[in-house]
Amino acid sequence: MSISAQEFQRRRRELMEQMEPNSIAILPAAPERTRNRDVEHPYRQDSDFWYLSGFPEPDAVMVLLPGREHGEFVLFCRERDRAMEIWNGYRAGPEGAVANYQADDAFPINDIDDILPGLIEGRNRVYYDIGRDDDFDRQLMSWVNAIRERVRTGAQPPGEFVALSHLLHDMRLFKSKEEQAMMRRAASISAGAHVRAMQSVRPGMHEYQLEAEYLHEFMRHGARSPAYPSIVGGGANGCILHYVENSDPLKEGDLVLVDAGCELGCYASDITRTFPVSGTFSAEQRALYDVVLKAQLAAIAVTHPDHHWNYPHEEAVRVLTEGLVELGLLKGDPAELVETEAYRRFYMHRTGHWLGLDVHDVGDYRIGGAWRQLEPGMVLTVEPGLYVAPDDDTVEARWRGIGIRIEDDVLVTADGCEVLTHEVPKAVDDIEVLMREARA
Ligand code: GLY
Ligand code: MN
Ligand code: MN
Repeated sequence: MSISAQEFQRRRRELMEQMEPNSIAILPAAPERTRNRDVEHPYRQDSDFWYLSGFPEPDAVMVLLPGREHGEFVLFCRERDRAMEIWNGYRAGPEGAVANYQADDAFPINDIDDILPGLIEGRNRVYYDIGRDDDFDRQLMSWVNAIRERVRTGAQPPGEFVALSHLLHDMRLFKSKEEQAMMRRAASISAGAHVRAMQSVRPGMHEYQLEAEYLHEFMRHGARSPAYPSIVGGGANGCILHYVENSDPLKEGDLVLVDAGCELGCYASDITRTFPVSGTFSAEQRALYDVVLKAQLAAIAVTHPDHHWNYPHEEAVRVLTEGLVELGLLKGDPAELVETEAYRRFYMHRTGHWLGLDVHDVGDYRIGGAWRQLEPGMVLTVEPGLYVAPDDDTVEARWRGIGIRIEDDVLVTADGCEVLTHEVPKAVDDIEVLMREARA
C-alpha cells in the first residue's frame, strides 16, 4: 500500500498554486541520527519532505520553483555509488529521482553549493521553515549571502523569508482519500495488535514482553515501526503518562495500560486500551473504567463538523467530573469542579490531537483566537483517561494506583465521524469475553 505518484504531484501543485509569484520553496530531508558511537537510529524521512516527495533517502534537498520553465520540482540527492550501495544499500541517484519520483530536474547533493544559489537568485520570496535544522539554516544563509555578495554584478537576492509551514501544515491537516485509506489500514493493524495483546497477556509476563506482541503484530502486517515508543504500564505505572521503561512484571489483579500504534507508509495510528492482566476487572477498576468510556463515547458523539476542536474535550471533562463526583473521588457541584479545574488531579492531559504523518500532527487548533471548527477529512484522537496516583491519600485506598485511558483515532466526516480503530473492543464486557475466550 502506498500513496500514488499522482497524489504527490497534486500536493506539490496545490502548494505551488498558493505560493506568491516568483518565489521558491526549499525543504531539507531529515538528517541521519546517531544512537550510540557508530550506530544510527533507523532512518525516518522528515514528514513535510515526505508529504511532498515520497523520497525516502537522507542527504537530499527538494526545491519547488513555481513557473520555472525548465521544471518546477528540483531534487538534490546522493549519487549512485557502487561501493556505498554494497555497504549501506540502494540509492536512487539523480537518475532515479527523475525516473521514479517525478523530479523535473535532479542533481548530486555535492553540487548543491554551485547550483542552488542560482535557483534562489532572482526569486523575491523564499518559503522555508527556519529553526528546525540549525545546520541547514546556516547553509541556506551561506547560499543567500553568496548572492548578496554579487549584488554589484546585478545579482538579486531574495527580499523575504516566509514560513512554509503556514501553507503546508494546513494542507496536511486535511486527509485525502488515499491518506484516509492508509490511516484506516494502520488503525486496523494496531487494533489487531491490541486484540492480540488482550489474548496473550498473563500475570508474570514483563511489560516489555507484552510490548513484543505489538511489535510482532505490526511487522507481520507490513508496518515496520511503531509510530512512537509504546507505553506498557501495569498497575500504578499506568498513571505515568509517558511511561516507556516497560520493564516491570505484570501482576494478577492489576490493569495494564497500553498506548501503542504502528506507522504505515509514514502515517501514524495511536491507540490506548486498558485491560486486566488476569482477564477480569475488579469492582473499582470497572467503575473508573466505565466513567472513562462514557466520557470517550460522549467526546466521539460530538466529533462532528457542527462543532469546534475543543468541544469533545469539554464533553469529556464534563462526563469525567460527573463520574468522579458519583464515585466519591471528588466532592461538590460538578459544574463548579469543572470551572475550578478540580478534575485535573485525575485528568491532567487533553482529550486529543491531530493525527497524520506525525503522531502529534501539524495543523492549527485555533484560528484568529477561536477554536477551529472541525471539518471533514481531519483526523484526531479521542483519548480521555483517569489516573489516581498511588500515594493519593485524599481518596479511599481502594482507588489508588489505577490508571485508565481509552484512545481511538477518529476521522471527521460530512455527517459526524468514523472511528478508524473500531476493531478493538473497549466495553468492559466485550474485553472480558475476548480475554476469557483466549484462555478457554
Ligand atoms: N501516544 C501519544 C499520545 O497518545 O498522544
Ligand atoms: Mn494520542
Ligand atoms: Mn496514544
